[in-house]
Amino acid sequence: MDHRKIYPFPEHFLWGAASAAYQVEGAYREDGKGLSNQDILNGTNAFHDTTVTADFYHRYKEDIALMGEMGLKSFRFSVAWTRIYPDGKTLNPKGIEFYNKIINELLKYKIEPMVTLYHFDHPYELQKSYGGWYSDHMIDDYLRFAKTCFQAFGDRVKYWLTICEQNNIVLYPNLIGGYLEHVDIDTWRIQVTRVMSLCSARAVNLCHKMIPDAKIGASFSFPPSYPASSSPDDVLAAMNENDFRDFYGMDLVYKARQNPWVVRYYEERGVDIRLSREDTDILCSCSPDFIAYNYYRTNVAKSCPLESEQIQPEFNLTGKKGSITYPTFPGLYQGTGNETLEKSDWDWTIDPKGLRISLRMLYDRYAVPIMVVENGLGAYDQVEDGKVSDPYRIEYLKKHIEQLQLAVCDGIEVWGYYVWSFVDVLSTSNGYNKRYGLVYVDRTDRDPKELRRICKDSYYWYQELLKVNGNILDRRNVI
Ligand code: BG6
Repeated sequence: MDHRKIYPFPEHFLWGAASAAYQVEGAYREDGKGLSNQDILNGTNAFHDTTVTADFYHRYKEDIALMGEMGLKSFRFSVAWTRIYPDGKTLNPKGIEFYNKIINELLKYKIEPMVTLYHFDHPYELQKSYGGWYSDHMIDDYLRFAKTCFQAFGDRVKYWLTICEQNNIVLYPNLIGGYLEHVDIDTWRIQVTRVMSLCSARAVNLCHKMIPDAKIGASFSFPPSYPASSSPDDVLAAMNENDFRDFYGMDLVYKARQNPWVVRYYEERGVDIRLSREDTDILCSCSPDFIAYNYYRTNVAKSCPLESEQIQPEFNLTGKKGSITYPTFPGLYQGTGNETLEKSDWDWTIDPKGLRISLRMLYDRYAVPIMVVENGLGAYDQVEDGKVSDPYRIEYLKKHIEQLQLAVCDGIEVWGYYVWSFVDVLSTSNGYNKRYGLVYVDRTDRDPKELRRICKDSYYWYQELLKVNGNILDRRNVI
């Protein structure tokens, strides 16, 4: 819809930036921290190294001061489970101390903390002893951790996320999931989805009980899938991708519902995924306050015959445009490129309107307020004369925020928007070659150098945007 009037963002809109513990903190063995499944991956490829990353553990004061100077309204960060419970079972007070310092420092600058309980890093001990997310034992261990966080930080933290991207965790099992090689991939995927959904539901209930004035939701990855053509086969393929990849898990947490055709899909592959009465009761008992999602790009799907060979989703690991392999799920969909859109060097489409489309899809489906908790552009940034000029990132953010405002004009209740990321983080799939930050961290994959911070041009641009509460659409028509 084209609007005759432009509606402003709500007065207390949460303009934020985000990060995740294993991608920024470093200090991977300090003050009693245990090893996580992410730490165990160190050295398994050319870039993965959690030992130092951006060294936020030691430089948080400097980074939060930069957030304050910028006028940031909210900062989303995750708690490293292994700082609080190094082996998954034994409390480490030093971990609580660290996050208390972060939260207090944020509040000093009037920055609203948003805490992600789980962002891809769980105690390796739990992985070793019972297989991590594949086991129901994870539920009690996760809830113990969540309860400790609610107890320790709930007096000051009023926005919580239970689990980040359970749908991507199962999509990329080796990279972020803690996959067990001896388990059939379908069985693993669906059991992990079930365990994580139950964890989210129970954490929501626990949070509501322990911190009545807090808001809590789960966050998902949501790159909506478009049909490759107007052929009904491709339209169905795109529906299949959206349902199978994203809505199945969201529906569990937000509607306590199992999509019947996804149940059939697994049944036909010999995996019975129907939930027990007890599981359904737990899911039905929870009502999250909002749905959160990470938006970077959109996908395209075309039909995929049953006889095709299965190709699992992969990332472009080279940073050379055009080197991505698209996934193939026989009988469901196969991914393909979108010739109408620009792409990043890692082949992610740049699709600002897709943000509005995804907001509309989620609001129609779940009818709860929405938080966009990650959005940003991964790029090769360069330092020249001590400065980082990143007009491509400014362009990306500007266009997405315009579409966000159009979604507000559509009447969608959006509570917040978080740029990924505040400082450059260790990219999950590409290390320090691919940078997302508003603040540059001077290091390479191999050499942490001095880790000097340099505010990029996008930092100053976002600072200006915050002054007008994000209202950058043509303001002559603002109501
Ligand atoms: C999101 C994750 O899916 O994508 C982040 O929550 C991640 O942790 C971000 O960094 C970007 O992905 P990547 O692989 O480019 O780092």
